[in-house]
Amino acid sequence: MEAKRVGEQKPPMGLTESQWTAIQSIRPLEDMPIPTDEAQRPVSVYLSDERYKSEWQDLFGKVPVVATMSAYLPEPGTSLAQDCYGVPLLITRDREGIARAFINACRHRGSKLVEGNEPVKSGRISCPYHAWTYAMDGKLVGIPRQETFPSLKKCDLGLVALETFEGGGFIWVGLNHKEKPQKLEGTDQVCADLEAFGMNNMHVYGRRYYDLPTNWKFVIEPFLEGYHVQRLHSESIAKLFDDVPSVYDQIGHHQRQVSGKANFDPAVLDGDIDNLHRHITHAYLAFPNTIVVTSPYYISVMVLCPRAANRTVVDYYMLVKSKPDSEKAEALYAKSFKLIDEVFGGEDFRAATIQQEALHAGGVETVYFGGLERMIGPFHDSVESFLDKP
Ligand code: FES
Ligand SMILES: [Fe+2]
Repeated sequence: MEAKRVGEQKPPMGLTESQWTAIQSIRPLEDMPIPTDEAQRPVSVYLSDERYKSEWQDLFGKVPVVATMSAYLPEPGTSLAQDCYGVPLLITRDREGIARAFINACRHRGSKLVEGNEPVKSGRISCPYHAWTYAMDGKLVGIPRQETFPSLKKCDLGLVALETFEGGGFIWVGLNHKEKPQKLEGTDQVCADLEAFGMNNMHVYGRRYYDLPTNWKFVIEPFLEGYHVQRLHSESIAKLFDDVPSVYDQIGHHQRQVSGKANFDPAVLDGDIDNLHRHITHAYLAFPNTIVVTSPYYISVMVLCPRAANRTVVDYYMLVKSKPDSEKAEALYAKSFKLIDEVFGGEDFRAATIQQEALHAGGVETVYFGGLERMIGPFHDSVESFLDKP
């Protein structure tokens, strides 16, 4: 298996060099070293309201987070209301195709401008209350009976803008309009990786929300470890995977895991690989709160929006290469969309929810992470590095 290694082959499918290096370091199960790094945390990091407030202010208020998928708002002249964070966001794509974000509140008397959670096509945004009208770049362009507001100047009353950029197939925003968020080290690398999968040009087949009575970190954790797969998923997807240590990379505060599927044979990397994700699974944490998991025919993206110490809204997107163009493709995607709900919704999110329920009793004070969960400790370290009072 050592015959061909890094540098001797070109990455297939336009993968980045860094992805290819990680993939090539997957070994057969018997050759993988047994990971023994351990970590632990007091349960207060999940339960405490103080801790939650600090995360919201010092982390979510300071770094760019994913607002939605670029593929969900592909057309120029569209807008989208996004409420999952509890901050009313208005995301637009202007006529030039530039994505922008604003607080979804009219500058007249504060009405929400766009409702619902679906993209809306329109050249302008008109407030439903008194019809003040805004261009897609946020400028106020129309006030009915403007002579009745002699002191107001339209140029002073554009929408409240939020810092935005696109990358990796995501529209990222800064949730705090008073502060420019700091783009994190490693973000460009993660975006390049995800663009190598074509994530910026895919089609959103399905979107679904989950409103979970649990802490956002409990929801993230199963996606950072493979330890639970043979156990929690014993009745569903366990047979597709071995109890195998993954290859992990910390990319700044972001994380990448690559794991071989059951019976993975590194020799497949030596041949022409038509569909890499039949053989391996990629999982990313786009820090702090977005998870990407690859499957052979689709990519799952979960944006986990913390709403309280014990509440998380998950905005789930299933991305496929293009709109299904046959009944067969439609049936395959529909089956996958259902499976995702059963596995992520019925198993991973369920596990996160019953953790929160059980820990409220107060008997358990510490949680432990073993070698097969070794990226959870660094995830907590990353979160805590932003907090004034961890
Ligand atoms: S609140 Fe929007 S026009 Fe009055
Ligand atoms: Fe899982």
